Amino acid sequence: MSGGKFITVEGTEGVGKSTNIAFIQKLIESRGVELVISREPGGTPLAEELREILLNKRDELFDPTAELLTVFAARAQHLNSVILPALAQGKWVLCDRFTDATFAYQGAGRGLSLDVIAGLESIVQQGRQPDMTIFLDIDVRTGLERASARAELDRFESEKIEFFERVRAGYKSRVNSRPEKFLVVDAGKPLEEVQSSILTKFEPLLDRWLAR
Ligand code: TMP
Repeated sequence: MSGGKFITVEGTEGVGKSTNIAFIQKLIESRGVELVISREPGGTPLAEELREILLNKRDELFDPTAELLTVFAARAQHLNSVILPALAQGKWVLCDRFTDATFAYQGAGRGLSLDVIAGLESIVQQGRQPDMTIFLDIDVRTGLERASARAELDRFESEKIEFFERVRAGYKSRVNSRPEKFLVVDAGKPLEEVQSSILTKFEPLLDRWLAR
């Protein structure tokens, strides 16, 4: 994408995205870069409303295709009103989840067609992709234990462990098909080690980007 850099952070539940995003934010801002922090689904008032619809538990089954379209509706809103304008102004964007999550959750998790998802991706993003994705990887059970200790579980977090095993496998297959696009970090280690690993892997890239 033109202008600023677009960085996304991905992982299954309880992987420590918030803590590590705050760490990455400090790393980037310490280099004098103007950074916008955002998240998906969400990132604008309307997209945050769609997030609530997606995450709230309900008695009615959320049809998987309806779920997929809602995710992309929120993404179109967020991309066009927040991400692209920020990048065009030369700001960088650090986003908690993006389309890799759709391939992992709706594709691998729900079993929807990856080709259909790729089709929606090209309609909504028109070829625009993150410059880099940090994939925080953790054993699914450990992550779910962390997530359930912190708050009431939302609609996704209430899924069975098998769902998250498929989601994690979905992420891994994204990583394997485009290794140059991902920084993979073992997030099951103690926080200090996780952050030192992020630093070691991310700083050289930051140096390269800022040298240009
Ligand atoms: P989180 O931001 O707290 O991780 O919650 C967002 C939830 O939404 C998470 O369980 C994953 C899910 N999600 C999808 O299923 N598809 C998507 O494309 C995105 C961005 C998130």
